[in-house]
Amino acid sequence: KPRILSGIQPTGDLHLGNYLGAIRNWVELQETYQCFLFMADLHAITVPHDPTRLAENTYQVAATYIASGIDLENATIFVQSHVKAHTELAWMFNCITPLNWLERMIQFKEKAVKQGENVSVGLLDYPVLQAADILLYEPDQVPVGEDQKQHLELTRDIAGRVNHLFGKEDAPILKVPQPLIRPDGARVMSLADGTRKMSKSDPAELSRINLTDSADLIKKKIKKCKTDPARGLEFDNPERPECHNLLTLYMLLSSKTKEAVAAECREMGWGQFKPLLTETTIEALRPIQTKYQELMDDRAYLESVLRDGREKAETVANSTLAKVKAALGYSTPL
Ligand code: TYM
Repeated sequence: KPRILSGIQPTGDLHLGNYLGAIRNWVELQETYQCFLFMADLHAITVPHDPTRLAENTYQVAATYIASGIDLENATIFVQSHVKAHTELAWMFNCITPLNWLERMIQFKEKAVKQGENVSVGLLDYPVLQAADILLYEPDQVPVGEDQKQHLELTRDIAGRVNHLFGKEDAPILKVPQPLIRPDGARVMSLADGTRKMSKSDPAELSRINLTDSADLIKKKIKKCKTDPARGLEFDNPERPECHNLLTLYMLLSSKTKEAVAAECREMGWGQFKPLLTETTIEALRPIQTKYQELMDDRAYLESVLRDGREKAETVANSTLAKVKAALGYSTPL
């Protein structure tokens, strides 16, 4: 089977963007692909974090993967910081990655503005660690949301550079993976502004729907979300970003086709559409929430999943790391 790898930072509640842009696609892909999925807890400390929440958030993300339908027969779920090869390979990549490749990363520039004087070296180095996360597992595809596109390009560039500097033409050291960005759901937008992406770090709680939100809270958020005064609802009108975003959410959560949704909603007003979207969202999330709660109540089970995951991940990761170290000329540890 071909392989995919992806991860999410355990930095707070996961939202519909994380689900529709990433997790939901993994669930679909697991039929065809062997999956390596992890919690990026090393990335989670690149901006100031709360040490009392980190471990708990990590378990929550693991429970969300499984509750969303990730099947442990096909998938390995593990914690990034448990597999030491990630940091070790990241160091080696640091030494072959030109600084200016990192300075032009859009996410770095955006987050750095918010951190001001306190921006950490880790934040700049974030995509190098991500390259190590990916290349260790030699995946064919990396399924992510649109915002990760530039990081995936950098990963491919780093792999190419290692192969070029230390490999032979016919025997590359690292496999160069492809990003897998589905057009629908790859960029779920804020409920408060259809031109900004839905984000964990947006201070406005009403701007996103979290996967653990209660029915009442979902109702309230959709009731208050930004709309427009135009009559009828439509996709793909650049003047109506909120309308496009909300129809897309409805389409994905109801599993209807775009044509069906366009026809169904063409004549609708917001007063009719909002309750429909509310009901659909609540129904789509209900089974995930039930399963999530069961998993969160069974810590011993989650621990056993992560223990197995770590073991399987280490086997693959350590073998790639050994290959890179040999190519760089390191002596064997005695
Ligand atoms: P994170 O936690 O920021 O995002 C996790 C995943 O959710 C997607 N995503 C979205 N998709 C659609 N619409 C949105 N509004 C939205 N917001 C977030 C992201 O694209 C991502 O797929 N750097 C990664 C974590 C990571 C990683 C990796 C991913 C670390 N190492 C190796 C893949 C492979 C990230 O941004 O996580």
